[in-house]
Amino acid sequence: MSKLFTPITIGDITLKNRIVMSPMCQYSAEEGFANDWHFVHYVSRAVGGAGTIIQEATAVIPEGRITYGDLGIWDERHIDKFRKITDAIKGYGTIPGIQLAHAGRKGSCDLPWNGGEELITGDHAWPVDAPSAIAFEKNEPDPVALSKTEIDAVTNAFQQAALRAVKAGYQIIEIHAAHGYLIHQFLSPLSNQRTDEYGGSFENRIRLALEVVDAVAQVIPKSVNLWVRISATDWVEGGWNLQESVALTKILKEKGVQVIDVSSGGLMPDAIIPADPGYQSGFAETIKRETGMITGSVGLLTEAVQMETLLTMQVCDLIVLGRKLLADPYFPIHASRILDRKNIAPKQYGRA
Ligand SMILES: Cc1cc2nc3c(=O)[nH]c(=O)nc-3n(C[C@H](O)[C@H](O)[C@H](O)COP(=O)(O)O)c2cc1C
Repeated sequence: MSKLFTPITIGDITLKNRIVMSPMCQYSAEEGFANDWHFVHYVSRAVGGAGTIIQEATAVIPEGRITYGDLGIWDERHIDKFRKITDAIKGYGTIPGIQLAHAGRKGSCDLPWNGGEELITGDHAWPVDAPSAIAFEKNEPDPVALSKTEIDAVTNAFQQAALRAVKAGYQIIEIHAAHGYLIHQFLSPLSNQRTDEYGGSFENRIRLALEVVDAVAQVIPKSVNLWVRISATDWVEGGWNLQESVALTKILKEKGVQVIDVSSGGLMPDAIIPADPGYQSGFAETIKRETGMITGSVGLLTEAVQMETLLTMQVCDLIVLGRKLLADPYFPIHASRILDRKNIAPKQYGRA
């Protein structure tokens, strides 16, 4: 059996293979509610054989959305639609996860297919918050720096969202601390220039991430995994870096975080990122080696043999796939044929 299709047990859950669907916003919700698009989109990837699906960035408060089309979990009324998705995914032996998110200064944007610009006025706009009043793009208005009371409210919103996610049947909760969104904005000295206990030193910049992790860990049952996605580097001199990612991971591990999903970038619009195949895998490897944490690697992983090599070389434990699974929901079925000469297609498709 290939490594890619070898199950892995993490805490109380067993993933049937190492293929994780990466969270990918669909920008297709109304008022945060999931609909038929989300159901078909996620359940197709379960039918296609993914071991785990991490649902797209799902906002913990309305102002935490990137766009007005983002999914949300700030209201008990969101739970029912999510429950339909998690029940169906589980029916195909796939573990459902959810990424809980707050966009901070990268919020209030138009849908990508409308250009994705920040919306300043109009029905779909809201004022955006951040650690410091520093805009993402030069032409955008400065965000409002959060007060201590507002920071506590964000932490509480993550905790309440986690409780709802458990009620909705998700077995993995992934905290989004990557890609330049709110928690990452606190981590990086480039976006966090606070002078209080949330800014300055490494200990202060990681404070919000730790408070969110503690708040979520406190309320979720042992049967649910806690994962964190980070950007291992800002790819900019003077920004958040790999050394700090290693140090943060060590602390998160002690707090009970079970997987680090290792991405990069997203904080600075002008970062130069050498996006070659597997360009972020080296970060996962360093973090795994130096912390012993279970790591997922993401970023331009597209070939079954490439994924198998990463697992064999112990670069990472999980293969997190984004665009490959958008292009081919049945990629795991194809990969199993290549690596193990096995047909894992649902019986209904056996004759194909
Ligand atoms: C359409 C789209 C939406 C995305 N939305 C999210 C998201 O909600 N949360 C997140 O952490 N990353 C998001 N990403 C980044 C992906 O999860 C992934 O990290 C990135 O695409 C690199 O992996 P890939 O080369 O396998 O696509 C998104 C990417 C795409 C293409």
